Amino acid sequence: MNKQPYAEPWRIKMVEPLKILNKEQRAAKIKEAQYNLFSLDAEDVYIDLITDSGTNAMSDRQWSALMLGDESYAGSRSFLRMKKTIQELLGFEYIMPTHQGRAAENVLFSAMLKAQDVVPGNAHFDTTKGHIEFRHATAVDCTIDEASDMDSQLPFKGNVDIAKLKACISQHGAQKIPFVVLTVTCNTGGGQPVSMANIKAVSEVCKQHKIPLIFDSARFAENAYFIKIREEGYQDKSIKEIVKQMFSYADGMTMSAKKDAIVNMGGFIGLRSEEIYRQCCTFSIMFEGYITYGGMSGRDMEALAAGLMESTEFDYLQARISQVKYLGDEITKLGIPIVKPAGGHAIYVDAKSFFPQIPQTQYPAQVLGVALYVEAGVRGVEIGTVLADRDPETRVERIPKMELLRLAIPRRVYTNNHMDIVAWALGQIWAKREDYRGLKIKYEAPIMRHFTATFEAL
Ligand code: F0G
Repeated sequence: MNKQPYAEPWRIKMVEPLKILNKEQRAAKIKEAQYNLFSLDAEDVYIDLITDSGTNAMSDRQWSALMLGDESYAGSRSFLRMKKTIQELLGFEYIMPTHQGRAAENVLFSAMLKAQDVVPGNAHFDTTKGHIEFRHATAVDCTIDEASDMDSQLPFKGNVDIAKLKACISQHGAQKIPFVVLTVTCNTGGGQPVSMANIKAVSEVCKQHKIPLIFDSARFAENAYFIKIREEGYQDKSIKEIVKQMFSYADGMTMSAKKDAIVNMGGFIGLRSEEIYRQCCTFSIMFEGYITYGGMSGRDMEALAAGLMESTEFDYLQARISQVKYLGDEITKLGIPIVKPAGGHAIYVDAKSFFPQIPQTQYPAQVLGVALYVEAGVRGVEIGTVLADRDPETRVERIPKMELLRLAIPRRVYTNNHMDIVAWALGQIWAKREDYRGLKIKYEAPIMRHFTATFEAL
């Protein structure tokens, strides 16, 4: 096969110089930060893969759209432009801006969710789960079993197990289930996509029981790309056609625009029901701002609208997701275990197999994160026992099945040369992996401990 290689459908107009500390300096910085990667100054990080959220590079069109921002308090032109773009792209009638994704969850769940309710879905993201549990309701994970098998190469590991969903509905009763949340792509499961067939099947079950289906849409465009290249019958459809079809099965959506709208801040809610929209208006005004800006500046809504048009272009998505795959392939070549197949926005390194000598109670994924920072100034994020936190009742540490270091790639920010550094650094650590020891927690907050915990080396 002599397939033409891919390259980015953009060139670089402005650059941001990076500071590169040496290894001794980095070792001192992370010790000073008490081994918590969140506590580092970003300036001391060379390649920052802590998240793909809000860390994107905007295009010249988005930057120029900023200048068109209408900062009117109510009914601004920028809101109307953003609304029209979302309506045309995703097909929802009612659009409400919010300052980011979790704010959209806060507003929508305030309107739709009450104590003792149950919300099934495919591995809810932390903030989604947080907003459900905060309201004394329960999130039920109905993802297919293969999602937790790191080596399974299934093309749609974000899929809902329809039998689990049906069992959840019959166990709790539809009246206890105010909505089902489908996260596309599924971040918690490794950035894995949901197939169109599965979206349709979930929607049919929901319709049957008159349960609204809400999409957590942060990475919807990346999901559409996977449908196009992996699911039969979609090869000849454009990303925008696939996106339209995906959302046609949803009754509503929350969006963190910090991902697939390629902006640095923002979010929104999309709805078909006027009644729910009206209820949301009250909460928007209380928590976010007037219903036509909801915590966003007019200029940010302009950039968001432009970003949505760009993120739903095939060439952009091909370059984006191929870069993630490139990093995954380079790491795999070194024999280092990762979650397969590569996700849409991140590579997840299996820290349990990386450091078999470190028990999960000594945080192997955190150890790997610290090691990677010291080795090459690369910052990832622990998705393991530190993040899993303690059981709120028993206060016993929850030990998750998978112990991962997530390397999330910002959109249009780094080159594949940067990816080579990341893979090389992991290879260096891999070669001396037996030398590493665990960490012990010195301080932890009662909830969400991973952000502020401090550690000491064992
Ligand atoms: N839903 C998903 C699937 C997410 O990944 C995130 C954020 C949110 C909702 C919340 O959106 O941050 O705008 O309030 N994920 C980031 C991450 C933080 O690093 O994966 P937000």
